[in-house]
Amino acid sequence: MTKRVCVIGAGPSGLAVLRAFESAKQKGAEVPELVCFEKQGNWGGLWNYTWRTGLDEYGEPVHCSMYRYLWSNGPKECLEFADYSFEEHFGRPIPSYPPRAVLADYIMGRVEKSGVRPYVRFRTPVRSVEYSPETEKFTVTVHDLPNDKVYSEEFDYVVTANGHFSTPNIPEFEGLQMFPGRVLHAHDFRDALEFKGKDVLLIGASYSAEDIGVQCHKYGANSITFSYRTSPMGFDWPEGFEEKPLLQKLVGNVAHFADGSTKKIDAVVLCTGYLNYYPFLPDELRLQTRNRLFPPNLYKGIFWVDNPKLMYIGAQDQYYTFNMFDAQAWYARDVMLGRIALPSKEEMKADSEKWVAMEEACEDPEQEIDFQTDYVRDLLEKTDYPHLDVDRVAELFKEWEHHKEAGILTYRDRAYPSTLTGTMSPKHHTVWMKALDDSLEAFLNVPQAAE
Ligand SMILES: Cc1cc2nc3c(=O)[nH]c(=O)nc-3n(C[C@H](O)[C@H](O)[C@H](O)COP(=O)(O)OP(=O)(O)OC[C@H]3O[C@@H](n4cnc5c(N)ncnc54)[C@H](O)[C@@H]3O)c2cc1C
Ligand SMILES: NC(=O)c1ccc[n+]([C@@H]2O[C@H](COP(=O)([O-])OP(=O)(O)OC[C@H]3O[C@@H](n4cnc5c(N)ncnc54)[C@H](OP(=O)(O)O)[C@@H]3O)[C@@H](O)[C@H]2O)c1
Repeated sequence: MTKRVCVIGAGPSGLAVLRAFESAKQKGAEVPELVCFEKQGNWGGLWNYTWRTGLDEYGEPVHCSMYRYLWSNGPKECLEFADYSFEEHFGRPIPSYPPRAVLADYIMGRVEKSGVRPYVRFRTPVRSVEYSPETEKFTVTVHDLPNDKVYSEEFDYVVTANGHFSTPNIPEFEGLQMFPGRVLHAHDFRDALEFKGKDVLLIGASYSAEDIGVQCHKYGANSITFSYRTSPMGFDWPEGFEEKPLLQKLVGNVAHFADGSTKKIDAVVLCTGYLNYYPFLPDELRLQTRNRLFPPNLYKGIFWVDNPKLMYIGAQDQYYTFNMFDAQAWYARDVMLGRIALPSKEEMKADSEKWVAMEEACEDPEQEIDFQTDYVRDLLEKTDYPHLDVDRVAELFKEWEHHKEAGILTYRDRAYPSTLTGTMSPKHHTVWMKALDDSLEAFLNVPQAAE
């Protein structure tokens, strides 16, 4: 009997799995029956922007954590799919730091072309996954939202690709309850113009804090104050920015920090990260982890050691994104096709523990980049995914880190060569700080239709 594979989520990770099977099929392989359940009305995952926050029209938590005017925070040359270059998609070289709409067009373009859309059942969140040792099958229960019907189907394999930057981590701070201004988590941030002329406090010291703070500055906020728990970001911040140790309390609209200093503020954005959240999985199948480069109990960062017929794609923290999801998807596919044999449970456990220990030994971002490069290389060596020069990608990541150090407001004006085609990217027509229109048409300089 044909095997059945369930993919949960049609974001970049789930789509990589569909694409991996399609590529094998094109080369003549017999592939299993694929069903991808997707909660949203379209594919693209986080890249599928919506103005909505809170709950959607069906009462489901809104998945999107992206916002207007979001531009790639790393060079596109580091995330390029090895089987589909940017040049192939856009018909010409484009600058290195595209806005969200341009990257969304690229991600979706590859899958539109490969014809995998019929595998996806949209507006169908997965509610539960159960495994029966007797039948050796998973029962997956889903909710068909438009028809308001709950139903179950059986699968031989389940691939969890529901993303882990959507369920916000929301700590409490004394005084938030009575704070007279706006309080929100980064997940609900949509438009920096809301904070024009305001004094904004951002709690957190990672990518969301950095990017939302810089966005608010770009669109006219009066001042940006970052508050860190462990260590400051430490960029050479221009005038208008400052970094403070952790917020202790708010008294009215005055923030009190751990160093005793205070600051009057108008709004608080909690940039305190996200939870790896798998409410549809029972305890024995559920990954429990913080956001890290090698979550525990996953062989090759993919296979649930206690039951490797359950796989996770994209569950780790990410320097690499789209091409790492591809590397994982091709590997997972080859295991499901019987091309790669998994070792014993003990060996899988020992191997996964080895990678966890290697991650824990990383001391700085450069070592983390090398760690994730080695991880992606290890996966790529075993499959027919087209050649990806990960050493060159790692060099670009390190250049990117240095360029951010050199200018947090100017690094997006840099250009890098494609590791696939060798073509140097052109500079964007407008420096990033002055590029206020983030539409695909403005970025690509395509004439816009008259209103
Ligand atoms: C604000 C922000 C900015 C980012 N910017 C960049 C960037 O510039 N460059 C970059 O490379 N990466 C960026 N990322 C990283 C991002 O994680 C990846 O680019 C990518 O979107 C991850 O893909 P994914 O498929 O793993 O997860 P997601 O994109 O989160 O997709 C998961 C999918 O699963 C669906 N889903 C969830 N639960 C269920 C369920 N129960 N049943 C069915 N479907 C479900 C969701 O609706 C969604 O479509 C950013 C992340 C954030 C939060
Ligand atoms: N333009 C873009 O492309 C863009 C923009 C935004 C985000 N992103 C992506 O989104 C993903 C998530 O980034 P993220 O910054 O949201 O999450 P993150 O990288 O996991 O960082 C979470 C931050 O929250 C802090 N934090 C957690 N709990 C806290 C608490 N109780 N008190 C104070 N601080 C607390 C952490 O501090 P500690 O250091 O102390 O743990 C850390 O600084 C990344 O992949 C990033 O690339 C991209």
